[in-house]
Parts: sequence; C-alpha cells; structure tokens
Amino acid sequence: MAEPILTVHDLSVTFPDPNGGLDALDSLSFIIQPREFVCVLGPSGSGKSTLLRILAGLLKPTGGSYTFAGGRPKIGMVFQESNLMPWRTALDNITLPLELEGVSPDGSRLRAQELIDLVGLQGFESSWPRDLSGGMAQRVAIARALIHDPDILLLDEPFGSLDALTRERMWTELSRIWQMRQKTVLMVTHSISESLFLADRVLVLTQRPGRIKVDLEVDLPRPRADEIRFTQHFGDLARRLKDAIG
Ligand SMILES: Nc1ncnc2c1ncn2[C@@H]1O[C@H](COP(=O)(O)OP(=O)(O)OP(=O)(O)O)[C@@H](O)[C@H]1O
Ligand SMILES: [Mg+2]
Repeated sequence: MAEPILTVHDLSVTFPDPNGGLDALDSLSFIIQPREFVCVLGPSGSGKSTLLRILAGLLKPTGGSYTFAGGRPKIGMVFQESNLMPWRTALDNITLPLELEGVSPDGSRLRAQELIDLVGLQGFESSWPRDLSGGMAQRVAIARALIHDPDILLLDEPFGSLDALTRERMWTELSRIWQMRQKTVLMVTHSISESLFLADRVLVLTQRPGRIKVDLEVDLPRPRADEIRFTQHFGDLARRLKDAIG
C-alpha cells in the first residue's frame, strides 16, 4: 500500500471553559491514502469542524499528532459558513488565494472565470456577497477553495445550503474534479446518501467528545450514477451508517 498522505494519531482537543475544559475530540486516529475521498459523519458538536480546522493549521490540538507525507500540502478549505470577504466581489473573493500567492491579476481572473462557469455563477462575477443567496455564496467559497489547485480539499458541509438540484450537480462536478485532478478529499457532511455517493470511506464520529465509531469502506463501483442509490447494496451501507449515527 502507498504511504498515507495523512496520518492522524491519538488526536485530542480540549477547549478551555469554566468547568475545567470541554473535550471536543478524544484520541482520534485514522489514515488517509493519497487520492482517497473520505467523508466524516457525526452528530452536531462531535468535533467535525474542529478536526478540519486542526488539519488546516488554524487550531492546535491539545494532544496527539497529525502528519502530512512530504511536508505541508497545498490545502483548499471550504468552511461551514462561506466566509466571504464582504468588501470584495464574488470574482475577487475567488481570486484571493492566488493574490496571496502573488499571481498576477490577469492570470488569476482567467482561472476564476473558469471556476465561475464550473459552479454555475455566470453573471454574478461583480456581485457583492451580501447580494448572493446562501447557496450562491457557498459556490463562491467552493471556487475559491479550488483556485490554487490544492492537493487536499478540506470541505465542511460544502453543499449544506444548496437546493437539491444544484447539490446533485455539485456532487458530479466534485467527483469529476477529484478523479481528474487526483485530489485527496476530506469532507464533512450530514447526509448519508451524499457520503455514499461520493466517498471511498466514511468515518462516523461518536457524540462529543468525538471518537471514531465506524470506519466504513464504500465498495460501490465508480463512476456512480444516480441509479446506484436504488440498489440493494447502497441501501445496506446506508442502513449501517444510520445505525452507527444512532
Ligand atoms: N473555539 C472554540 N472554543 C470553545 N469551544 C469550541 C470552539 N470550537 C468548537 N467548540 C466546541 O467544541 C465542540 C465541537 O464543535 P464543532 O464545531 O467541531 O462540532 P461539529 O461536529 O462541527 O458540529 P456541527 O455538526 O453542528 O457543525 C462543540 O461543543 C463546540 O461548542
Ligand atoms: Mg461543524
């Protein structure tokens, strides 16, 4: 087997609080292989966003460790809230990561326009974040996460506020990007069917403090078309995840 791209070992997080500390994650251990698509499911408050924030380098764990093979990879992150800069247009929000890397505005605008097309926001390039719907803002955030061609995508419920049709289109697009561009994806979701449609593996966390309850391999053939959701095997896997979540 290849060397894991990410090794998480006994990771724990305790936030300070007046009662002696709030345990968010407890001794989490798992590995992710290069180009694997892993989904994380778990009850609200089980530490899913905390886990992504740690891996993105935004928060330090209080115990344990995590290691990326070959040093720090390029990471694309989509937060649970779209986190757009209110004073920048949709297009200028998308180009932000490239700007921070020092890429010329002309080069980055071309790439941003491709991503605008990809996420279906043509015509909204100059809109302000306050004028976008929740789903549109989320699509801007997805485009922003992709623009610097990251090796690893950390996605925190990226499709949470999309309507069903857009959501399914984004599933197909994300699968395509993942497959064609050979990305590694770690994605938090609340949707069992979304996780089974997209992932190679699904990790289910327990109630807070989050521990790994189930690590399920999704052995459904690819490419996965809509109809796969009506197969017996899909139903069996969904049942197992549902039982694990409780
Ligand atoms: N910066 C912080 N300071 C103190 N407590 C925090 C902080 N961030 C998260 N927590 C707490 O840690 C626990 C885990 O939070 P987290 O946001 O990771 O959960 P989650 O699994 O992403 O939940 P949801 O599904 O609702 O998004 C919660 O009890 C939360 O209140
Ligand atoms: Mg969260």
